[in-house]
Amino acid sequence: MGPRLGLLLRWGLPWATMGLAVAVFGLGVVATGAYDTTATTPHPALVAWATHATMVQSVRREAASLPPPRRFTAADVAAGARLYDANCVACHGAPGVARAAWTDGLTPNPPYLLDAGRQFTPNELYWIVRHGVKMTAMPSWEQTMSQSDVWTIVAFLSALPEMSAADYARERGASPQGATP
Ligand code: HEC
Repeated sequence: MGPRLGLLLRWGLPWATMGLAVAVFGLGVVATGAYDTTATTPHPALVAWATHATMVQSVRREAASLPPPRRFTAADVAAGARLYDANCVACHGAPGVARAAWTDGLTPNPPYLLDAGRQFTPNELYWIVRHGVKMTAMPSWEQTMSQSDVWTIVAFLSALPEMSAADYARERGASPQGATP
């Protein structure tokens, strides 16, 4: 036995065995259904952390290749508020507006986005809204919204940290969907 082969066996074998054990365990979970897939129990902390952190890193990587947006105007924010109120508020709420009660049944729960404009850059927000998030209730809006529609929502989300409940109510009242007769 050459020294190369000896080294390979000494170091490679334990890793290969461990890899095989993990693969067998994983397949066992799939085959037996020994994992709670109901939405009534939250993700185990490790799964919640790993999936969310992967989403954030994936979004950062993809968004880095987008060109920066033009400056947003007040008209962009108003148009974005109307689209948000029609499509997003049930899941994500808004200043002075609670999420719909049924969203408590979603796992993971959709977060309030009052701070999303500080946590994510405009390009990152664009990527999330345009493409959605796998294995969560967050839809991709690619099929139903134009790129410029999505940018107006990003303008709105960027303005959201400074927006009061009264500001939101004003934007909402100005919208056809939110207007009360
Ligand atoms: C059916 C419910 C639902 C609707 C409707 C919905 N979302 Fe989401 N959204 C989610 C969920 C669930 C997550 C959490 C994903 C995760 O944990 O990674 C999410 C995540 C997000 C995030 C990332 C927030 C963060 O802190 O990770 C943004 C931004 C976002 N949504 C914006 C929107 C916008 C804008 C709309 C409307 C165009 C919208 N969402 C519509 C369920 C929804």
